[in-house]
Amino acid sequence: MYAQPLGNRRFRQNKHIRELVREVRVHPEELIQGLFVVDGIKEKEAIPGIPGTYRDTPETLLMQVEDDLAKGVSKFLLFGVPGPQDKHSHDFDHSFTVSQIKALKDKFGSDIWLAVDVCLCASTISGHCGILNDCGDHVLNPESTEALADMAVQYAQAGADCIAPSDMMDGRVLAIREALDDHGLNQVMIMSYSAKFASKFYGPFRVACDSAPDESVKLKDRTTYQLDYNRPQDALTCSWRDYEEGADILMVKPVVHYLDILKTLSDEIPAPFAVYYVSGEHACIEAAAEKGLIDAAQGHVEAWHAMKRAGASMIITYAARYGREWLGS
Ligand code: PBG
Repeated sequence: MYAQPLGNRRFRQNKHIRELVREVRVHPEELIQGLFVVDGIKEKEAIPGIPGTYRDTPETLLMQVEDDLAKGVSKFLLFGVPGPQDKHSHDFDHSFTVSQIKALKDKFGSDIWLAVDVCLCASTISGHCGILNDCGDHVLNPESTEALADMAVQYAQAGADCIAPSDMMDGRVLAIREALDDHGLNQVMIMSYSAKFASKFYGPFRVACDSAPDESVKLKDRTTYQLDYNRPQDALTCSWRDYEEGADILMVKPVVHYLDILKTLSDEIPAPFAVYYVSGEHACIEAAAEKGLIDAAQGHVEAWHAMKRAGASMIITYAARYGREWLGS
């Protein structure tokens, strides 16, 4: 038998053969674009660290999506940011985001696939993802879950195609699935942030959403409900749980430093996996690019390929709108 040379370099000798033997490919249609719409601002605002993604006004949001559709981007993850007057401790008012979902669906209908983030962090005075007890030292799980299910029904009734709970309360997927089904919304999907870690890479997002935990509250951070990166086993347990509670799509977030988790989960659980290439991860490449150390587009594309290799079916990224341009398809 002819012995293949070790690490056959003939496969890498030119662009043509490299294209023919690729094992992994990222398609622009696998990318989901994050969108922020903010109550009470007059003009769209830039977000530090994630250039090309804005805090949109209701008007600029519609223009942005029109522009994205023209570029072939049709899948979105929307974050509604209510104004300070709508921050409460309980009895939340979701009318701002509900109106934005309706406006998007009225204008674009089934031309877009609209997932909407469901979490209380932009609606609570404390900045926490759930409802706090009176002395503010822990999150009340059942009360929070009920509030989240109510929020999900309002978003689904407004036209969301997919509900994406990012709060990390226990049992919220089942509560949301039951509430949706009870309201005849059984077509609406759930994309659960099933393996979401307490991470330092959410910084730019919290600026965009005005959702950092309030310093004056006893509970200082989200480590009591988001996963601990020292316990990868929890990612598996929580993802199986969410799958069994009725989540259609599971998620690993952040992703760049969690590819081992993604690989394990996507090998074990028979659900499509989304990954969230979060704001701080995106910003690291942008910051290096600003210093002239790296090419931002090529850096993001390389990161997307790593996610795909590790088992992602879809990628939530702030650069989905550059997908066609960067991937050349
Ligand atoms: C809401 C939420 C967060 C992100 C998405 N949904 C931040 C957080 O948990 O504080 C982070 C997304 C990003 O950094 O791009 N809970």
